[in-house]
Amino acid sequence: MTIIQKAYDNWSEIYDSNKNKTRDLDQKATKDMLSKITFDSVLELGCGTGKNTEWLVQKATQVVAVDFSQGMLAVAKAKIKATHVLFIPTDVAKNWDFTDQTFDLITCNLILEHIENLDFIFRQAYQKLGNKGYFFVSELHPFKQYLGTKARYETEKGIEELEVFVHHISDFTDAALQNGFKIRELKEFWHDEDEKTVPRLITFVFEKND
Ligand SMILES: C[S@@+](CC[C@H](N)C(=O)[O-])C[C@H]1O[C@@H](n2cnc3c(N)ncnc32)[C@H](O)[C@@H]1O
Repeated sequence: MTIIQKAYDNWSEIYDSNKNKTRDLDQKATKDMLSKITFDSVLELGCGTGKNTEWLVQKATQVVAVDFSQGMLAVAKAKIKATHVLFIPTDVAKNWDFTDQTFDLITCNLILEHIENLDFIFRQAYQKLGNKGYFFVSELHPFKQYLGTKARYETEKGIEELEVFVHHISDFTDAALQNGFKIRELKEFWHDEDEKTVPRLITFVFEKND
């Protein structure tokens, strides 16, 4: 088990309830961005406790939601009873052999800061998308990362910060363009409480460039 997996197992019990502006803003940003496109089947990477899965199951006829933390998945499964969602434990930094299917949309929220090799993720995503498929990415903005913000949660011993990889904006766009995507939309988001500071989230909709 990796340190990150263990950290999310520990975090899972309070992930939905502790104060977390990034989590809340991501939920709003995801609805805002994905309401503009149509899709039936979705692959959700790093679904966590199912915060966005709950909305995706209302929009899609089939959702496959994957995560490598059993703790996070257990919370998601307890919350979401829809029969057209399948939760699969898997590490997306390794080959995506958990499904043979292709999807209309792949979503990826607040997970890539834990994954070093973006190129690998974009290559796999391209292969798992049907023609004209979309790849949605929502991440803590790199400007925030430059200022030292990391995924963090409260424990009995105090604040626990997770080690993260910094991906620049050009790292995302390069990985996308090199792996057969075009950029359909790029949008930044600010939480109400941090309007006059750097953006909190960066989101992209990439489209398969067939
Ligand atoms: C900050 S949480 C975000 C969860 C959810 N996407 C959301 O927006 O609420 C990051 C999630 O990514 C998962 N994760 C991180 N690295 C992963 C990997 N290599 N494979 C699968 N899941 C991973 C963690 O277990 C955790 O559930």
